[in-house]
Order: sequence, then C-alpha cells, then structure tokens
Amino acid sequence: MALVSSSITTTTFFFLFLLFLFVSANTHLLQSNEESSISVLISQKGLDFVKDILVKQAISSLTPLELPKIHKSLKIPFIGNVKVVLSNITINQIQVSSSYVKPGDSGIAIVASGANANLTMNWYYSYSTWLLVPVHISDKGSASIQVEGMEVGLTLGLEDQEGTLKLPLKECGCNLKSITINLDGGASWFYQGLVDAFEGQIRSAVETSISKKTKEGILKLDSLLQTLPKEIQVDDIASLNVTFVNDPLLGDSSIGIEINGLFAVTKEVLVPNYGHMNGQPLAACEGSSKMIGISLDEAVFSSCSAVYFNE
Ligand SMILES: *[C@@H]1O[C@H](CO)[C@@H](O)[C@H](O)[C@H]1NC(C)=O
Ligand SMILES: *[C@@H]1O[C@H](CO)[C@@H](O)[C@H](O)[C@H]1NC(C)=O
Ligand SMILES: *[C@@H]1O[C@H](CO)[C@@H](O)[C@H](O)[C@H]1NC(C)=O
Repeated sequence: MALVSSSITTTTFFFLFLLFLFVSANTHLLQSNEESSISVLISQKGLDFVKDILVKQAISSLTPLELPKIHKSLKIPFIGNVKVVLSNITINQIQVSSSYVKPGDSGIAIVASGANANLTMNWYYSYSTWLLVPVHISDKGSASIQVEGMEVGLTLGLEDQEGTLKLPLKECGCNLKSITINLDGGASWFYQGLVDAFEGQIRSAVETSISKKTKEGILKLDSLLQTLPKEIQVDDIASLNVTFVNDPLLGDSSIGIEINGLFAVTKEVLVPNYGHMNGQPLAACEGSSKMIGISLDEAVFSSCSAVYFNE
C-alpha cells in the first residue's frame, strides 16, 4: 500500500538499518538520563542518502494513485444546468527534480520540490435542452492533466519511546503551482467550463490525496520501526543490547541516536558494574565526507570481554 508497500524492498530495510544506526556521537546530551555506550552520528551525506531512498520509495508507492470522483453541476449560458462527472482520475507518473532533508529544532524536514505529475481521467457530461421537445444530450471522453511545480513537504519528529524510535508526523503538505487540462475530443465550451470549474477541485484532490498517502506511509514506517529488535543475537553466547536510549539529537546537518550497546550473556541478564560509562569514547570515526560516524564507549569492550571471558 503506502510508503512501505507489500513489496517491502531491501532499500526499505536498508533505510531502517540506517535509521537504526542513527546514533549520536554526542555523549554529553543535556538530558542524558540513561547511559549509552554506542553512539552514531549520521552526517548530511548520510541523511541525503536516506532521503533519496525515501523519496524514491514514496514515488513508487504514490503511482498509480486514484483520486475520488468529482461530481458537479455547471450553469452554462444558453444551455442551462450541465451535470459533469470526472472519474478514474489517476496520477500515473511523478517526477521529482529536487529534494532536500534538513534536521532542526522542530524536527526533520523533508521537502521534494519542482515535481511534475501526469494524470489521466474520464469525463462525462449530460444536460437537457428544449428544441420544441426536451432533448437529452450527453458525451464522454478522456483527458490528460499535467501538474507542474508540485511541492511536497513534511516534518518528522524523532523520539525515543521506551527503547524504540517513534517518528511522529508533525507537518505534512502538498502544493501545486500550475495545472493544465487537455481534453481528448469534446466541445470547446465544455473544455473551458471544465478548466474553469474543475481546476481548483482537481488541484485540491491531488493535494489532499498525496498528503493523505504520505501520512499513511509515515505511519507504516513508524510501525515498522516498532518492530525492530531490542537485542541482536551475536552468537550462542552473546547478544548485543540495541535498545535506544535518550531522544535523538537533531543538529543542523546531522542526527545522532544513542543505543545501550552492551553485550550480555544470552538469556541471562548480565548486570555488570562498569566504571567507565561516562568516559571518553574509545573509538570514534567521523568525517564530513562519511555518511555515518560511530563511537564506542569502553563499556562496550568491557561488556564484551565480560561475556566471553567471564572476567
Ligand atoms: C482508469 O485509468 C487507468 C490509468 O489511466 C486506465 O488504465 C484504466 O483503463 C482506466 N479505467 C477506466 C474504466 O477507464
Ligand atoms: C507528462 O506529459 C507530458 C505531455 O504529455 C510529457 O511531455 C511528459 O514527458 C510526461 N511526463 C511524464 C513523467 O510522463
Ligand atoms: C537494554 O538496554 C535498556 C536501555 O539501557 C535497558 O533498559 C534494558 O534493561 C537492557 N536490556 C538488557 C537485557 O540488559
């Protein structure tokens, strides 16, 4: 269906994997209420990479998209009331020319702009007129619609909720710059009437449907995040606690998330007492040209050796 369709692809999982690794290198968070020993920082380059996958996935789930039927009664001079039905209004193709992702205080903004879309629809009209006797006239045909300068934007929150990441949708909108309707066949009066009377309605139908579909996609993505494991089985002996701790840190051009990151003996909860939880990260790899920077606290290694060597 929506953003994450039944054809859940490897790209989706890769995206989740990246999100999952969105851990912060920032070990001194202001509200650092829980301790983490693995933190990863996703750079702008990494965010762009994830955004590109997300936009691509969104486009393929948005097309084809059928919009609700439009009924309308038009008053045409000399003809009278004309009943018009536009049906099977379908968005067939969307091309996005540019997009960006920007983390900030209010959340992660993702914007796709300069998008063009092609739609097709069927039209039908009927009216009755008097030529000595009442005459019923109707006609139907198809039409193509070009939408230009479409902008779709959304702002996502990113929160830690009891060890899993939540992606609350804070804002979502779709806006079209111009819309061109081309009728295949049909009388010119009808064409003019259609353009005048329906442009606004088609515009808002496209905007509403795309926003709705985007919201559904984010909900799906959010529920997929809830299904991520909190523990990764390393082998028969050990497992790694990958529970998220603390709210992710949204910087100007990076996102950081922290995870517990300690090894534990499988099925037995190990409660080690490490004295270095707030020490300097032992290993850190960061760089503006890299997508992800990971830093590991000494506690990761201590817990690992404790599990394997029973120290
Ligand atoms: C509805 O539109 C789609 C896409 O343009 C087309 O394939 C299909 O045949 C149309 N259905 C009808 C009933 O016209
Ligand atoms: C949309 O339609 C226009 C005109 O028919 C065409 O030039 C353009 O290539 C189409 N775009 C897509 C994405 O199909
Ligand atoms: C995993 O980490 C979370 C967060 O630090 C903690 O609440 C949980 O008890 C840990 N689980 C195990 C099995 O140690």
